Amino acid sequence: MPSPDPLIEAALAARERAHAPYSRFKVGAALEDEHGRVFTGCNVENATYGLTMCAERVAVFKAVSEGAGKLKRVAVAADTGTLTPPCGACRQILWEFAADAELILVNLAGKQESLSVKSIFPRPFDASFV
Ligand code: THU
Repeated sequence: MPSPDPLIEAALAARERAHAPYSRFKVGAALEDEHGRVFTGCNVENATYGLTMCAERVAVFKAVSEGAGKLKRVAVAADTGTLTPPCGACRQILWEFAADAELILVNLAGKQESLSVKSIFPRPFDASFV
């Protein structure tokens, strides 16, 4: 049995803290920066529905506001057979701060896949246009 990846464990633990009483769809995210610091996030829903914030963006905003270095790895955990990828809005935010990062998707059954943020966001709108 391979030793558990602390970043994946952090994403799974963050998922448990999700505030998702409306969708009941819990997501956890964990980011690792170049110094090995880890920042986590869970989805935080709201009775208005529209103000819901995804786990990935919570994690990115926490990381940025807490002075993270270059983001190297992103882990996303959800309880789905087909691994849950970041939504479109989260891809745009990840692009801004973690374009070169590895993206690891996991579920509760231990299934996991490693890909790149780049591979899921092929034609980004970014600072080069502004
Ligand atoms: N959600 C995330 O947190 N991340 C994703 O990548 C997909 C969707 C959340 C938003 C909402 O609280 C719930 O999952 C259902 O869409």
